[in-house]
Amino acid sequence: MSDPTEISEEAVSAAVTAALTAISAAADSAALRVVRTEHVGDASPMARLGGLMRTVPNDQKAAAGKLVGQAKGRVSQALAAREAEIGEAEARARLAAETVDVTAAASTWRPGARHPLSLLQERVADVFVGMGWEVAEGPELEGEWFNFDALNFDEDHPARAMQDTFFVDPPEAHLVLRTHTSPVQMRALLSRELPVYVVSPGRVFRTDELDATHTPVFHQIEGIAVDKGLTMAHLRGTLDHFVKAMFGPEAKVRLRPNYFPFTEPSAELDLWHPTFKDGARWIEWGGCGMVNANVLRSAGIDPEVYSGFAFGVGVERALMFRNDVKDMHDMVEGDVRFSQQYGMSV
Ligand code: DAH
Repeated sequence: MSDPTEISEEAVSAAVTAALTAISAAADSAALRVVRTEHVGDASPMARLGGLMRTVPNDQKAAAGKLVGQAKGRVSQALAAREAEIGEAEARARLAAETVDVTAAASTWRPGARHPLSLLQERVADVFVGMGWEVAEGPELEGEWFNFDALNFDEDHPARAMQDTFFVDPPEAHLVLRTHTSPVQMRALLSRELPVYVVSPGRVFRTDELDATHTPVFHQIEGIAVDKGLTMAHLRGTLDHFVKAMFGPEAKVRLRPNYFPFTEPSAELDLWHPTFKDGARWIEWGGCGMVNANVLRSAGIDPEVYSGFAFGVGVERALMFRNDVKDMHDMVEGDVRFSQQYGMSV
């Protein structure tokens, strides 16, 4: 840009045109700052024109002053307008870039869900607590004595092998993964004053392969009551109330004679309900009976004075026929979508 050497209309309009072109070409505020320095700063043609006022003869000063003044006015107006325009665009861009979308989901974490087996066990416990029973837990790694001997299994009774026991090393420790929740019977009797009314849900283990209807880890619920004068009628009444509370007023129990070493007499516990998946029918659910006198004696209780009843049922089985779960894999795989279907209630 050539510096003007005199104040002439051409020189002034050349300076104005150059300034306006540069102003409208400035794309952002940094570019506009450079334009301002170049076109209206101390070393700009516009400033130089102002300086040339000294050289203008007095009679032409007014006209020249007006010319230069108007030129400066136009340029500074254009600068201010462009500055406002750029300022607004930059503010808009910044707002867009820094936007926080408060409507977006805070995170992708979804709440989990309690496992239906846990919910079912809690429900059973609630039913018994409602009848004044206590809830107790026993160890999963159990003494062989509690799991078998105390329950009147003979040393070489085939049931020891029949229950597909996981024996735990070393053999001289006589530890097993409990094959049923029945060892809690003896623990309850040894740790409490009579009478005893205890229900005990928990995990049990057998050397089964996992398939649609078997799993090596499953759950049972055990109950034992020892008091003066308990009879099979009490067992029957308790089970009746239990199944109705669990499965509705139409549910019924049936006891079929059977053998268990720790009860005498013993029975298979069948359950009937009109809405089972394959229609109304009897389903084998567990075992029960009157506590064997030998078990009472092992706990130091006189069977002439006290009597008791006991029962044990499978939790997975209950979920299968109550909620129509067909494949055991669903219960052990831990896919939260399975649990979510049950929400917080079973
Ligand atoms: N513990 C037995 C089992 O796992 C079930 C059972 C039968 C429990 C009779 C009892 C009972 O309390 O009285 O096969």
